[in-house]
Amino acid sequence: MNDATHNLPLPDKPRLVIGDGAIDRIGELAIELGAQRALVITDPHIVAAGHVARAQRSLDAAGVNEQVFDGAIENPTTIEVDRAVEAARGFDADLLIGLGGGSSMDTAKGCNFVLTNGGRMSDYWGVGKATEPMLPLIAVPTTAGTGSECQSFALISDPQTHVKMACGDAKALAAVAVLDAELTLTQPRRVAADTGIDTIAHAVETAVTLKKNDASWALSRRAFALGSPALRRVLADGDDLAARRDMQLAAALAGMAIERSMLGAAHACANPLTAEFGVVHGEAVGAMLPAVVRFNGELAECRAAYAALVGGDERDAAARLAGSVESLLALAGVPRSIAEHGVSENDLDRLAVAAAEQWTGTFNPRAVDAGVCRALYESVLTENDRRAGAARV
Ligand SMILES: [Fe+2]
Repeated sequence: MNDATHNLPLPDKPRLVIGDGAIDRIGELAIELGAQRALVITDPHIVAAGHVARAQRSLDAAGVNEQVFDGAIENPTTIEVDRAVEAARGFDADLLIGLGGGSSMDTAKGCNFVLTNGGRMSDYWGVGKATEPMLPLIAVPTTAGTGSECQSFALISDPQTHVKMACGDAKALAAVAVLDAELTLTQPRRVAADTGIDTIAHAVETAVTLKKNDASWALSRRAFALGSPALRRVLADGDDLAARRDMQLAAALAGMAIERSMLGAAHACANPLTAEFGVVHGEAVGAMLPAVVRFNGELAECRAAYAALVGGDERDAAARLAGSVESLLALAGVPRSIAEHGVSENDLDRLAVAAAEQWTGTFNPRAVDAGVCRALYESVLTENDRRAGAARV
C-alpha cells in the first residue's frame, strides 16, 4: 500500500494491487484466487491498445486458461450482459476479469450477477438482491475514472428505455482491483477529461450525502485532495505518469466512498441527460455539479464539508467549490450549459420528472423533487446566458 492510502479505512475487498506494470501480475493474481479459466471482459479499443494481449500473456504464463469477450460498449445494456453471460457459460469460466473503462467493468459485474444467480439483470436492480455466491472478479481500470473497480454496482441500461439500472450487491465487489497507471496513458484526452470530472463529482457528492459516515468522509476528502490537482496536471500533460497515478488512485478511493455513502442530486439529474440526449456521463454530471453544490450549500453542514475540501471560510465555501469545479470544466472543455447538448426549455419538465425518480437522488442532503430538479436544470440551461449578461453589465 503506498503513502496515499495510508491510514484510510480500507475494506477487505477489493484488494488493491498498485503499481506501474501491475497488469503483468494478473496471472499470478488469478492463481491466488484459485482460478483456472478466466474470461476477460473488455471492448475492442482496449484490445487495440494492446492491454488485453498483455493480460493474456500473463495468464498464459501462469497456466491459466483464458478467453476474451470484447463486446462491452459505452453505457452497456442487458444485451451486452447477456452476451457476456453466454461467453462465460460456453467457456465454463471460474474467474471474470473486467479490463477497460467503467463499461467493461460494469459488464463484467452484470455478467457475474446473471451467470451465478440466474434470471435477468432487472432482477438485481437495487441492493443486495443476489442470494448465491458469485465468481471472483479482477477489475483492471484503463480510465480514471468511474471508480467501478472499487464499488459493487453494475450500471446496466435497459436497451428499450435507456434507463440505467443500478444493481449492487457486496458479493459483486471485485476481489482484486489492479491499479496500473500506465494503462491510463492510452486514454484519449476527451475520455481522461470526462472520467476525471466524474471522479471529482464522486468525491464532492459523497462528501455530503445522507449516508455519509467517518469512513466515506475520509475517502471523499482524500479522493478530492488527490484528484483535483491531479486532473489539472493530466489535462496539462497527458504523459505525466505521476499525475496519472494520483488520478487513478483518486478514482478508486472515490469509488470506495460511493460504496459507503452513495451519491446525490448531480447524478440524479445527469442520468436523464444521458438517457434522453446521449450526454456522456462525466459531462452530464459535470454540468450539473456546480448548481447542486450551490443548492446544497444552503445547509451549514454542507458548507462545512465543502470548506474542508477547498479550504477557507465556511460561509462562501459552496461558491468557491462550485467555482473550482467550473474552472475544471473549462480546462476539460466540458460544456457548462446543457443547452450545448441540445436541451431546451421545453424539455425541462420531462427531464425533471425523470430525475426526481432517480434512486441516487434520495441520498442528497437536501430533498430533491421534480420542482427542485427543474430549477437545477434551468439554472444550468441558462448558465451561459446569465454569465454573458453579467459580463455585459
Ligand atoms: Fe459518476
